[in-house]
Amino acid sequence: MATRWISSILILLALYGATSGKVYQKCPLARALDSLQISSRSFISNWVCLINAESGADTSKKTAINDQWSSYGIFQISSKTWCREGRKGGTCNMQCEDFLNDDLADDVECAKLIFSRGGGFAAWKGWNLQLDTTGNGMANRALSLVGLLVAVVLLLSTTPSYGKIYTKCELAKQLTANGISRTYQGHWICLAINESGLNSTKVVELTNLSSNYGIYQINSKEWCREGRKGGKCSMKCEDLATDSVTNAIQCSKIIQQQKGFNEWIVWQKKCKRQRSARYFQL
Ligand SMILES: *[C@@H]1O[C@H](CO)[C@@H](O)[C@H](O)[C@H]1NC(C)=O
Ligand SMILES: *[C@@H]1O[C@H](CO)[C@@H](O)[C@H](O)[C@H]1NC(C)=O
Ligand SMILES: *[C@@H]1O[C@H](CO)[C@@H](O)[C@H](O)[C@H]1NC(C)=O
Repeated sequence: MATRWISSILILLALYGATSGKVYQKCPLARALDSLQISSRSFISNWVCLINAESGADTSKKTAINDQWSSYGIFQISSKTWCREGRKGGTCNMQCEDFLNDDLADDVECAKLIFSRGGGFAAWKGWNLQLDTTGNGMANRALSLVGLLVAVVLLLSTTPSYGKIYTKCELAKQLTANGISRTYQGHWICLAINESGLNSTKVVELTNLSSNYGIYQINSKEWCREGRKGGKCSMKCEDLATDSVTNAIQCSKIIQQQKGFNEWIVWQKKCKRQRSARYFQL
């Protein structure tokens, strides 16, 4: 009797495990898409945006289109064209229900096919809604292409003179690489947003003849020296305001260890009480 109970519980657990989905955060989702080689790196953020618009990145999401067809998984792949319910089929030759588990390999493979056969990102209505709400497919498709081109051109033409603006994800990766635990990353990201707008090359001259350098706006009076290594961080201030944030993070760790986050007035004003704010979700 007892063994039968246990085995039915085990079966239930196994079923639950097999069918349960997962809601992806943006950074892990970007990493997963990249490792499944969905596209070149430059378009990963477009895919993340699309997925969030379609399903909120919930792998278990199934939406009825009408009483015949449904959309499945993070990409909301339709059973009308691309997959079949209950058996393999459709243009992707896959079973729709397989898109509901947290294995993204099949979803990505089918999404790539939809992208190539269905007219790029415009094949998804979530993508169009993000850009334009007029509902005109051709116009939306043209718009998304123009938008992409403009973004690429802007990116290429402005990169050298505008310094590097980090995304929250990129900064989080650098914080991890420099030994800052996830528990505190929200504070460090909030601080960077408010000190520099995530601009790693920002330099501000103050009226008192000192300057603030880099993503954490480190002051030249105490922590570094201009033109040569020095200060409590034994660093050249200019090295705290480059495209790389490694020096800035290392010096900021020293400041935080010696004086605490309170040394940054901006942190006291904007980050101290922000525990639940959006900085803390990447
Ligand atoms: C700091 O962040 C808050 C919240 O997003 C924003 O309202 C404020 O303008 C930021 N301050 C600076 C100096 O960027
Ligand atoms: C980043 O900071 C540098 C130096 O202060 C400045 O020239 C540049 O315009 C800033 N970039 C942006 C996008 O604000
Ligand atoms: C100049 O002002 C900044 C910010 O208020 C401060 O951190 C720094 O110590 C001051 N520098 C000098 C030389 O007083």
